[in-house]
Amino acid sequence: MDALITILPGDGIGPEVARSGKEILQLIANKYNHNFKFEEKLIGGSAIDNCSSPLPQETIDTCKDSNAVVLGAVGGPKWDNPNAKLRPEQGLLGIRGSLGVFANIRPVIIYPSLAKASPLKEEKLIDVDLIVIRELTGGIYFGEKNRTENKASDLCVYHDFEVERIIKIAADLASKRKNKLCSVDKANVLETSRFWRNITDNIIAKDYPHIDIEHILVDAAAMYLINRPSDFDVIVTENMFGDILTDEVSMLSGSLGMLPSASLGDNKVGLYEPIHGSAPDIAGKGIANPCGMISSIAMLLRYSLNLQEEAIDVENAIYNVIENGTRSADIATADDKVSSTEQITKLIIDEIN
Ligand code: IPM
Ligand code: MN
Repeated sequence: MDALITILPGDGIGPEVARSGKEILQLIANKYNHNFKFEEKLIGGSAIDNCSSPLPQETIDTCKDSNAVVLGAVGGPKWDNPNAKLRPEQGLLGIRGSLGVFANIRPVIIYPSLAKASPLKEEKLIDVDLIVIRELTGGIYFGEKNRTENKASDLCVYHDFEVERIIKIAADLASKRKNKLCSVDKANVLETSRFWRNITDNIIAKDYPHIDIEHILVDAAAMYLINRPSDFDVIVTENMFGDILTDEVSMLSGSLGMLPSASLGDNKVGLYEPIHGSAPDIAGKGIANPCGMISSIAMLLRYSLNLQEEAIDVENAIYNVIENGTRSADIATADDKVSSTEQITKLIIDEIN
């Protein structure tokens, strides 16, 4: 198949893991006789430095013309001035908004041999298999912001259609798994959460009567995810709660560096990024964990290109390399040998070959 894939390396370790992702895509193209073309565009801090905008129009246009977009990470101390008008994160939110990718799918993948890398007791990790669906283009991230000398505000807004479409995605996924859905909100305090809960109940009652729906307040959910993570299957939640809870649940898999994400909308272009950030403390050292990125590439093959066999090939390769004992610094324990980004990528490539 022919596909145009735009790569947005971004900042910090973004370019390092994006390079690994591209190598895997090129390899899959060769092995399965596909024709993948690549474009590379600026986003985030590097775009601010080069074109005075965290999201140049050219980046948006190229992404919209692609079949899929791969993003490394954005941000770093260089652009962290709290009074700066331009921030790298505006580029990330801007591309999510421009592509309309409202459904952010973040699966927690457990690799048995990484149980030791998790701060949780190993027995808590038995049977953990959960996916968080995070609403990605609404809520407090996108509401009106205001600031005067002695007051600041961020507005949290949800429209009915925004809640409906994300709940449908989550309910469809739950229908393919265990018919079990957990919606996380803060309905004891927030009006947007009560609105979200009402809409959710109506949709489930009307269109998904086979689904067992549970509503959990976000503070309790944060506790249960540590306490009894294996009770969860599909979790759906609003933008900011999803951001926070997915960093938390990444600890189940051992490291933030392991988790992938796919962001999908109604139109064809999907956005794929590891859930980790730009990790400025290790940028340039070649030691970043490429697994979150390479798992995101598997999601790209599956969701944007409908290449199921290729996706499984990539997933199995990561699994085997990890289970054979290969470790980047973030998942290494006491006497593990630590491998570089390049070495791990090479081992995954050998495994696919
Ligand atoms: C993420 C990140 C972003 C977010 C930041 C960099 C804006 O933390 O993708 O989870 O909050 O969505
Ligand atoms: Mn985050």
